[in-house]
Amino acid sequence: MAIRKIQEDPHPALRAKAKPIKTINERIRRQAIDLVDTLESINIGIGLAANQVGLLRRMFVLRLPEDEQTTIFINPEITEREGIQESNEGCLSCPGRDGVVERPQSVTVRAQDIDGNDFILQAEGLRAACICHECDHLDGILFYDRVTTE
Ligand code: NI
Repeated sequence: MAIRKIQEDPHPALRAKAKPIKTINERIRRQAIDLVDTLESINIGIGLAANQVGLLRRMFVLRLPEDEQTTIFINPEITEREGIQESNEGCLSCPGRDGVVERPQSVTVRAQDIDGNDFILQAEGLRAACICHECDHLDGILFYDRVTTE
């Protein structure tokens, strides 16, 4: 259990494509818990992807203000996207920067939990936008790449 340093743009890990996690072993579980601890240590954060702490693994964690606990997404894949919303986004790795991004209004995401169990989540509104933002991180994409109005 450790709080990791959040890397800031232009750190190269933020522009790298994270690798799929083949086996959820003790090391991966520890890294996932570190992500949870790191996110929970920051009041303003709602999502954190592995790239942001320099780990090129396909996982992120999410906790919206109304959530009782942080959810871990391992090998997430967005399988459905519906509608359009505009949301004002920022990122822990891009301090002082924000902008309006067009995202799907709702998404379906498939992922694994820390025990390797598959789960499917349907999300809309802010949660859908956050899931897209975090999945983008795993592909080396930052929100401002998609900003329509700065
Ligand atoms: Ni971000």
